[in-house]
Formats: sequence, C-alpha cells, structure tokens
Amino acid sequence: MSLLITNISELVTNAPRDAVSVASPGSFEAIAGAAIIVDAGLVAWTGLAAEAPGADEVVDAAGRAVLPGFVDSHAHLVFAGERGGEFAARMAGLPYSAGGIRSTVAATRAASDDVLRSNLARLAEEMLAQGTTTFECKSGYGLTVTDEARAVALAGEVTPEVTYLGAHVVPPEFSGRTAAYLDLVCGEMLAACAPSAKWVDVFCEDGAFGADEARAVLAAGEAAGLQPRIHANQLGPGPGVQVAVEAGAAAADHCTFLSDADVDTLAASGGTVATLLPGVEFSTRSPYPDARRLLGAGVTVAIATDCNPGSCFTSSMPLCVALAVRDMRMTTAEAVWAATAGGARALRRTDVGHLGVGARADLIMLDAPSHAYLAYRPGVPLIAAVWRSGERAAWPGLSGRGFLTVPV
Ligand code: NIG
Ligand code: FE
Repeated sequence: MSLLITNISELVTNAPRDAVSVASPGSFEAIAGAAIIVDAGLVAWTGLAAEAPGADEVVDAAGRAVLPGFVDSHAHLVFAGERGGEFAARMAGLPYSAGGIRSTVAATRAASDDVLRSNLARLAEEMLAQGTTTFECKSGYGLTVTDEARAVALAGEVTPEVTYLGAHVVPPEFSGRTAAYLDLVCGEMLAACAPSAKWVDVFCEDGAFGADEARAVLAAGEAAGLQPRIHANQLGPGPGVQVAVEAGAAAADHCTFLSDADVDTLAASGGTVATLLPGVEFSTRSPYPDARRLLGAGVTVAIATDCNPGSCFTSSMPLCVALAVRDMRMTTAEAVWAATAGGARALRRTDVGHLGVGARADLIMLDAPSHAYLAYRPGVPLIAAVWRSGERAAWPGLSGRGFLTVPV
C-alpha cells in the first residue's frame, strides 16, 4: 500500500535532488512545494507536488513541512529514581559533578525489571512524540555484571542502537580499586553484555576514567565485537577526543572543552563525528561547545539529547535544535542536519537521517511551514505527525487543527 503526502511547503531530504537512489545522507537539502511517496516502508519518490505520481492513499500536508525523523545518537534511558533536588541545588549555585551518577546507580539497582521497563517505555514514547524515530540507549547505571546485563537487554527491547557503558564511573564498592573494576568491565561484565549490544562507550573524564583506561575499555569492547564511541571533553580539557580518533570511534560526544589539536584531529579523522549535547550545557549552566569552530574546520557535527536523570533530563530533540541555533550559533539548516543526518552518521547508519529514495520512511510533519520553526518557536509542540517505516505512529499530535498553514 503506497502513501502520497502532498502539499508539503518544505520537504527536507538531506539528499541530492534528482537522485534515483541514495545510499546515505548527503548535505542539507530541501524541496519547496513538494510531495513524497512511501512504499513498503521506504521512500519511493520525492519531488514537486505538481509532478507527483498517484498512490493508494493520500495525505494533504496543507502547507506543513516534512523532515526526516530525528536521530538521537546519545541517551541514557535505563534508570530508576530522579535527581530534581540535585538540579535545583545546581541552579542555586552548586557545580555539576560526575559523582551524582552514583545516586542513580543505587536507585537503578534497587528497581525491578518492570519499573525499569516502564520508565524506558515512557521515555521512548516521549521521544517519539517529539519526532525522534531512531535513538541510541546506553547502560551505565547498573555497574554490576547482572545489572549491566539487565540494562542492555532492556535497552534492546526498544532500540537496536544499544551501548554498553559499564565504564560510566567506578561504583562505590570498588572505590579506590579502579583497576579491579576495569578488569570486571573488560572481562565478565563485557562478556555478559556484548551479545545484547552494538556499541561500547567509556566516560573519559577526571572523576571517571583516564586515557589508558578508556583505551583498554574500547579495545576490549572491540575484541568482543562492539564498536567504539566515547564521552569526551565534557567537564574540562582532556584526552577523550584523541582516544576516540585513535580508536576509530564513530563519535566523540560532548566536545565542550577542545584544544586546537582536538579540533584538527577530529577534522582529519575521516569518520569520527563530534556529537554536541547542548541540553547538558543548558541544564548544568555551562559554557556551550564551540560549534562554529568545529564546523569551520570541516568536522562532522551531530546533535543529540544525552537524556539522563543527572546532567540533562530532556528527551526533546526540538529543544536541542533550538539551543544549537540560539546558543551555539548553528544555522537552522545546520542544526536540523546535525539532528537527523548527523545523528545517523554518529550511529553509522545509512538508512535513516535522510529522505533519499530507498531510505527508511521515518518522517515527521511539523505544524509549521519550515524547519526553521523548530528554533523560531522554541518549546512549542510542533510535531503534528510521525511515520516510522511508513507507518503513522499512534501519537495523535496536533494535525487536526489546521494551524499555521500556507498555500503551496
Ligand atoms: O553524558 N557524562 C556522563 N554521563 C552523563 C551524565 C550522567 C549523570 O549525571 O547521571 C552525561 O552527561
Ligand atoms: Fe552521556
């Protein structure tokens, strides 16, 4: 059953015009006065509405914009408890520190599978309602063999992009015995988690793990069949980015405190994406990463939420796009590209993040005429409808309201 969505004021494709088949995201591209045809869960055709072939079913976008679904390449969703008090104290002047992670570890260990599963489902639903059609999900709040294995298994119930983050922090029972904890992370815990994960990650930062420790974790993960990614240069300058590129990591995430050498290394890497997480700087009241410096050097930039109960408890990619535009001075096109095609690159996915012919038909319709409204109308629920693999998601959105339409 084919679907035609027509009268689209702006169709963001991230794919070259007139391409018959596109294997992966290209640069930002948009078609005005457009239509799209979806068949068998894939994009079958895009072009001008006036030239659209017929289809079994027709949806009139009535002047709304259609974009690829967001690809949120960094999220920590398997946890219990909350840290609203820690947030309030931070807003009153206390600094953020990695130590807060341990309170979530205690709550997560104490939670039943059902509680964790229901929290996870709630967050996944929030993401979908805000236009996220692909997301990554990390473990890292269990930090025992059983609790980490449970976390990656639960994450695998909601996404194929599962990351093993046993090396989040040293848990309290290993305090002062980092080497012994790393033996576990690279040994028995890895063996228990690798079958359910695609990625291995490490928090490379003062207060978490140093360069050699991070290298060892990524190497052990790779030997177990996992692909590397990393938390790097979040709280201060450090070796994270260099370790990431050396290891051929798909992404170095945070990149808040970078030296010139870090930027050059990322630019020369040929495949390591700098994933910026502006919700973290917003929620920790920290300086934002210098996105313009990275873009100017030719680094591939992604934007993701880092949704977690400590440093950034938002699941909203539209908020992150707005912050990227307003506070990191990305253009609206750069920010939307980074939140879709950039996220896909950071997950080494070619089937999502763009709407080239042959891509997965993951689409969002905005209750607005252009992608710019994501930043222009911050905080407003603009996601009118979502399709995943061509199937309209149950989320009702606002599509019935006929709001803010423009003639095509
Ligand atoms: O990406 N940096 C390490 N991990 C998370 C924070 C987790 C927490 O504070 O609970 C992050 O910011
Ligand atoms: Fe994180």
